[in-house]
Amino acid sequence: MTEQALKKLLESMTLEEKAGQLVQCNAGQFIANQLEITGPDGEMLPSEELNRVMGSVLTFEDAKQAKALQDKHLAADPHKIPLLLMLDVIHGLRTTYPIPLAMGCSFDDDLVYECADMARRESSVCGVHVTFNPMVDTARDPRWGRILETNSEEPLLNGRMGAALVRATQGDDLGKPENVACCVKHYAAYGAGEAGRDYNTVDVSERMLRETYLPAYKACLDAGARLIMPSFNALNGVPSVANKYLMNDILRGEWGFEGVVISDYDAVGELVSHGVAADLKDAARLAMEAGCDIDMVKNAYYLHLANLVREGTVSEEAVDAAVMRVLRLKNELGLFENPYHGADEQAEKEVYLCEKHREIARRAAEETAVLLKNEGILPFRREVKHVALIGPFAEETRLNGFWSRPGAERYTVTIPEGIRNLLPEAELIIERGCGAEFEDTDRSGIDRAVQAAAGADAVILALGEPENDSGEGRSRAELDLPGPQAELARRVIEANGNTAIILFNGRPLVLTELVSFAPAVLEMWYPGTEAGNAVARLLWGEANPCGKLSAGLPRSVGQCPNPYNRMNTGRPKPEPDSRAFPFTSCYLDTPNLPLYSFGFGLSYTTFAYEKLSLDRTQMTKDGEIRVTVTVRNTGAAAGKETVQLYLRDPVASVVRPVQQLIDYRKVFLKPGERAEVVFTVSEMQLRFFDMNGREMSEPGEFRISTGYADHLLLTERFELTK
Ligand code: GLC
Repeated sequence: MTEQALKKLLESMTLEEKAGQLVQCNAGQFIANQLEITGPDGEMLPSEELNRVMGSVLTFEDAKQAKALQDKHLAADPHKIPLLLMLDVIHGLRTTYPIPLAMGCSFDDDLVYECADMARRESSVCGVHVTFNPMVDTARDPRWGRILETNSEEPLLNGRMGAALVRATQGDDLGKPENVACCVKHYAAYGAGEAGRDYNTVDVSERMLRETYLPAYKACLDAGARLIMPSFNALNGVPSVANKYLMNDILRGEWGFEGVVISDYDAVGELVSHGVAADLKDAARLAMEAGCDIDMVKNAYYLHLANLVREGTVSEEAVDAAVMRVLRLKNELGLFENPYHGADEQAEKEVYLCEKHREIARRAAEETAVLLKNEGILPFRREVKHVALIGPFAEETRLNGFWSRPGAERYTVTIPEGIRNLLPEAELIIERGCGAEFEDTDRSGIDRAVQAAAGADAVILALGEPENDSGEGRSRAELDLPGPQAELARRVIEANGNTAIILFNGRPLVLTELVSFAPAVLEMWYPGTEAGNAVARLLWGEANPCGKLSAGLPRSVGQCPNPYNRMNTGRPKPEPDSRAFPFTSCYLDTPNLPLYSFGFGLSYTTFAYEKLSLDRTQMTKDGEIRVTVTVRNTGAAAGKETVQLYLRDPVASVVRPVQQLIDYRKVFLKPGERAEVVFTVSEMQLRFFDMNGREMSEPGEFRISTGYADHLLLTERFELTK
């Protein structure tokens, strides 16, 4: 439709119909089998009137339901305005790939693109028009359950991977049925909730907001994301969905965003519990004034928007502007001509879990695994076949993560299946070793597990935290392995030292005790559908681990949050990895550094960083510097290494981080092979926000390093001249 036709359509709509376009319902309420509904279920009850006017729905299962929803609505809507169908496709629809925090460990934007492209193909045939993805909330506190959903503690990594996902998902033309619109979330700083507690208050300085939290959302909008979702939290005193500074001044004003703003689930209604709205009607007013276009699931807009306009409290122009943004998005998706978009039951049968998608998911599961420790245990020799597989994850199918689609576990390749796929002759002895539930204190299974371990050629200990212990509303105050897993591991390793621990978890855990006695530890996160195949190939060396931590692993929960890009303070501890140094910034009872730092990860081979060189030692504001890092594979196996580039600005008008990632590149090297990895550094990468909130750079000395956080191996200096 033309813009003219859209405006004509708008003029033909009643106030109630306009308000209806800004209402999103749970599809489950209109479909016989109620689907899983996140968040508090709104009082919004399905009705013929609601079905007639509603503008969008979320959470449906497949193409058949998508078409039925669309048919049911269009039959009742006199204007024949198609629904927007939205769904959380966070890391795969039917073929699940690793959780975003794991994808961050790949340090591979192209891999993120490839996985997102696969998810797009499956989402489009399912009938999805909009995915609530990417989630790019920078998260620095592993107590927060939703850290699993973001790529990293590092804003640059978050932004680049989020932008790659947007490009892959939206393609070059949203009108093509195979493309899906992205809704970037949760704007803003949702990951900074006090005490790592979900939905909690966020209070950060303007500079922290601008430097740490906003860049990733902006990168996704710059990549073309058509929607954005304000976060549940209050930000500096005002809940995001009613925060005019965030939504009008920055989003619409500074950034010029013209797309759709959709609230999070019931977030408009929650303005009442936040204490900024007296009632649902007041909440509707605040959200509309702040520029929230769509009210997700709650009925604030449905019940009150028309009256607010009639009584002159809310302008009809504001409502019209919101409705036009929604109509334009539907039009850009081609829904007026093709309301089903890509929904296709036949294609679903061909595309879901196809071999190509499984290969992508398996490769991603391999590339995101992080080898934390390996004292000559891994890879297992091919001859190792008599294997004890022990632990609560030994036969687990829930290896997909909180935001995998309901039922994903039905398709997971378990560890035994993966091992048998690789080694049909393998003899597996499987023992859970602990209680049916993770939290069980039952230790009766440990003896049997120890016995099984004692007689095996090798032992695999499959440990971690239950899938439902991370994700939305799943913050934890402790970060240890739940239940008696550490005791199980200690007893098993005493019985057989040829043991490798593999971990399945959605957040950085405290592994301090475990790694003190375990000879090999491989972090698998929640690897998704192809988990078992990836585990087997990694353990037997068909794949070489190359993941690097996208978030540091704390030594203790007391250190959290402990971001890698910390400031030096006026009393830095001389050896941050040692115990107390009185009267310096330290703890009496633990070192400052995490157990494993951001950017750390081992391989089955070794790499030497031989040289870091700059093509000049001075740079003007419009100049750039070429940085060359020479790295060599000094081991006996081919492998991938992520070369990381860190910046330090030792003297500036405000304190600056002791290390800040400014670029990264992954290289594949055969044994003995050497690579010269070339980066270009420009003045843009030297910028920060000064005391007055201005983004700028300052002349002076800068240091460029390579290695990984807290372990910078080579450093060179250059000067930014006036
Ligand atoms: C949830 C989440 C959000 C999700 C939305 C729809 O509460 O906060 O990330 O997209 O509701 O399911």
